Amino acid sequence: MRFVVFILALFLFVCAVRAQWDDDPDEDPDDPEEDPPWRPTSTRRRPTSTRRPTQTRRPTPTQQPTPTRRPTPTRAPTPTPTPEDPEDPPEPIFTGVDTFANATMYQPDDTAHHLTSPRTENMPNNTVLAVWNDLEQINSTLPIYRSTNNGFSWYAHGTAKSKVAGRRLLEPHLLLAEGSFSGDTNMTLLAVNAVDAKSTNIELYASWDQGVTFEFVHCVAEGGAVGAKAVGEPHLLLHDKRLTVYYSDQRDGQHAQKISQQSAADMWDGWGTAIDVAASSTLSDQQGMASVAKLPNKQYLIAFESSPSNGTNSASITNFKITASPENAATERIRDIVSTTGVKPQGASFVTWSLIGGANGTIILSDSVTNSIFVNQALGEGPWKVVATTAGRALGREVRAPANDRRALRITGGSEGKTTSADILVSSMDLEKALLAAA
Ligand SMILES: *[C@@H]1O[C@H](CO)[C@@H](O)[C@H](O)[C@H]1NC(C)=O
Ligand SMILES: *[C@@H]1O[C@H](CO)[C@@H](O)[C@H](O)[C@H]1NC(C)=O
Ligand SMILES: *[C@@H]1O[C@H](CO)[C@@H](O)[C@H](O)[C@H]1NC(C)=O
Ligand SMILES: *[C@@H]1O[C@H](CO)[C@@H](O)[C@H](O)[C@H]1NC(C)=O
Ligand SMILES: *[C@@H]1O[C@H](CO)[C@@H](O)[C@H](O)[C@H]1NC(C)=O
Ligand SMILES: *[C@@H]1O[C@H](CO)[C@@H](O)[C@H](O)[C@H]1NC(C)=O
Repeated sequence: MRFVVFILALFLFVCAVRAQWDDDPDEDPDDPEEDPPWRPTSTRRRPTSTRRPTQTRRPTPTQQPTPTRRPTPTRAPTPTPTPEDPEDPPEPIFTGVDTFANATMYQPDDTAHHLTSPRTENMPNNTVLAVWNDLEQINSTLPIYRSTNNGFSWYAHGTAKSKVAGRRLLEPHLLLAEGSFSGDTNMTLLAVNAVDAKSTNIELYASWDQGVTFEFVHCVAEGGAVGAKAVGEPHLLLHDKRLTVYYSDQRDGQHAQKISQQSAADMWDGWGTAIDVAASSTLSDQQGMASVAKLPNKQYLIAFESSPSNGTNSASITNFKITASPENAATERIRDIVSTTGVKPQGASFVTWSLIGGANGTIILSDSVTNSIFVNQALGEGPWKVVATTAGRALGREVRAPANDRRALRITGGSEGKTTSADILVSSMDLEKALLAAA
């Protein structure tokens, strides 16, 4: 009884503390109307102000640190290196990565946050960075989270913020430019849709301190306000020492929404003009949410969402193109995903490639409406298999192979829909075992 009273007292105390936090007045986001419209500085010349930052002070966290709930371990690590084909990439170093389900990456403060399309990036030394889309982003600041144990636990690590007042950094995507790009080494790139009341902007930010601080480096494309000739949903790809940014584009009067790309060999100079990637012959159809996987035959698979004019999110399907040239895919044929069970991926999808599964490896695609994944081991040809996962379904859910364990697959998801709230959860599954079970 005494124990129960103690627990009750503790509970009431926690409630009181919590209520005090809730009563804290929210800082008002900056009002875009009060500032003159912003124009990006000329991109012809390398701006000296946005070069490598001299100070690498840790930024003040803009949020309460998130308690990380302990996930459910599903398996003990049993490294079983296999003999290698000379054609295969070098064997990764095994560090005994465990599999687990539903580790909490981030827990929003309240149910106003509908967190979708989380994106992670494998960094040196087995660390992982993560970002996600939050329309109710606090103080127009994008939090960057980090895990140093393959996604098992997560901490607030850095932030990115626009210099333009009131511009929220949405739909983020991270890319580590390992080695050198554009004269810089080990630069972490961040592409976002920087959104204010009047415009959408595909902006690039760069970090030279492994994702703690980010500096604005380039505005790739400008569109109208959300819903009016907007741009959005950027996805980065580094290939042949060139950077390509894919994005959804509503600016062309011939298409309700198509996918465009722009590319550059140097961050500060020589960006090409917008080139079509996928555009429907029906004016009112919409294409968007592009993601790209490099295949071992030097081809690139570009997956995207196709919504017919009458479509809602649940009616949209996933299509893909295969191209040898990621900057020139406009004329490649649009392919359907046909699965052996007849189930088709729907909603925003994300594609990746894992070297597990023979010479072709495995193409893995997650959609937004099933907790299964879709896999293909024939370089995108023929039917796809549906493989069960331990992760829940989520809008714009991401699939990535961790850097140091070829058997595993990291699945990261947030809310199921744009109107529901949920934590960002990370699962690490034994892909090798799941593929064998599905064979
Ligand atoms: C909001 O941003 C401003 C400027 O970057 C900063 O001074 C302030 O502390 C931030 N507020 C919160 C609650 O994060
Ligand atoms: C870039 O990162 C790699 C991997 O951590 C490291 O080996 C290399 O020394 C780094 N290069 C520079 C110039 O920092
Ligand atoms: C790599 O990770 C280990 C263990 O977390 C840490 O002790 C070490 O300082 C890290 N090295 C670098 C270069 O970040
Ligand atoms: C929506 O459009 C597609 C093709 O454009 C068509 O197959 C489908 O029947 C339409 N659905 C409705 C409910 O009209
Ligand atoms: C690899 O892909 C090619 C092309 O689709 C296919 O012909 C071949 O059977 C695949 N190999 C394996 C081992 O699945
Ligand atoms: C992980 O969470 C999802 C809900 O988001 C649930 O459907 C699933 O069963 C959980 N997985 C495990 C192994 O507990």
